[in-house]
Amino acid sequence: MSGLSPTVHSLTSELRLAPFRTGMPAMDTTSLEVWGRLLARRCRNATREILVHGDPAGLWRLRVQIAQYVGAARGVLCDPQQVVIVSGSQQGIDLVARVLLDPGDAAVVEDPGYLGGRFALRAAGIEIVPKRVGREGLCVEKLPKKAKRIKLVYVTPSHQFPLGMVLSLTKRLQLLAWAACNNTWILEDDFDSEFRYESRPISALQGLDEHGRVIYVGTFSKILFPSIRLGYLIVPKNLVSAFVAARSLCDRSSPIIEQAALADFISEGHFASHIRRTRTYYLERRNLMINLLRQELDGVVEVPDIEAGMHMVAWLPRGVDDSCVSREAAKRRIYAVPVSVYAIRPLGRGGLMLGYAAFSKAAIRKGIQELAAVIKSCIN
Ligand SMILES: Cc1ncc(COP(=O)(O)O)c(C=O)c1O
Repeated sequence: MSGLSPTVHSLTSELRLAPFRTGMPAMDTTSLEVWGRLLARRCRNATREILVHGDPAGLWRLRVQIAQYVGAARGVLCDPQQVVIVSGSQQGIDLVARVLLDPGDAAVVEDPGYLGGRFALRAAGIEIVPKRVGREGLCVEKLPKKAKRIKLVYVTPSHQFPLGMVLSLTKRLQLLAWAACNNTWILEDDFDSEFRYESRPISALQGLDEHGRVIYVGTFSKILFPSIRLGYLIVPKNLVSAFVAARSLCDRSSPIIEQAALADFISEGHFASHIRRTRTYYLERRNLMINLLRQELDGVVEVPDIEAGMHMVAWLPRGVDDSCVSREAAKRRIYAVPVSVYAIRPLGRGGLMLGYAAFSKAAIRKGIQELAAVIKSCIN
């Protein structure tokens, strides 16, 4: 493609291959009905304040609700002024790259890790430094002692994407100390932390940070639905004005009617009951899928316990190509994403990422049966 920069050219061809449909939430009809009612009420009673360009930082009422929610649920310490509403995490990550980093700076990312985050950083001209994840998440001990060029670490500590482990408290504290020592930013992506099934969540990195190095990004894509395109950044106080200015230059603000309806959804208690209801729903599906995989593919795949989220990873026997299994599964309309697509360096073992949140129990039963047949045929 003539005229395109090499970065844009390579990102465009890779993006075409990127599977962005993993981890879809369930379409909860009860909540969708409420959402429709609240949205219609806001449109019917639209005031001038709601119809003109809004505050680029977001609707104040929504920022207040979010600050309260993340404080209570995630141990995030902030006042509403530090909350900047964005059009999903994707815009949040893009803003962080452009406000805090310069082209040519380097950022550490988890390997394997979230493509959307990595691509946004690359698009901003940031050099990617991959670091392995182990049982306790990002291998913090592998970070260089002195990190002159590394300006950012992008992590998913509450539920590593895509492998699902939780960054331990010890590693969280080590990472924060390292960032303070090296004057490095940490971008904490807390994308689906609402759905924890076993233990109480560890406090967000943001709430443990004493040096103002953490930018927290949250989204409503997983809790509600991705097309809502509403998320938020929580930024240190001294960075608020820079982020709000960048937000304004980008696209002025996120849609105000949706922000107002979302603030109503949270303040009227629908959000809390939605989370309670979907958590139970997902837990049943998670248990069903784990049990079926362990029954149907006993001794063939390895399914680590998962504490959180909306998907799991099934590790294939060594030597089996996960892309090949994924392609065969797709022919039977089973969507199993090869873990290798998220990896920068070879993983040594293939795995499949399997979403369970958006499927009925019957669909999960049928899907796992068919997947088992596909995997067995790929081994023989
Ligand atoms: C790690 C991670 N972060 C964030 C998101 C959500 O992105 P957005 O808010 O832009 O829809 C996803 C969605 O798949 C994700 O997997």
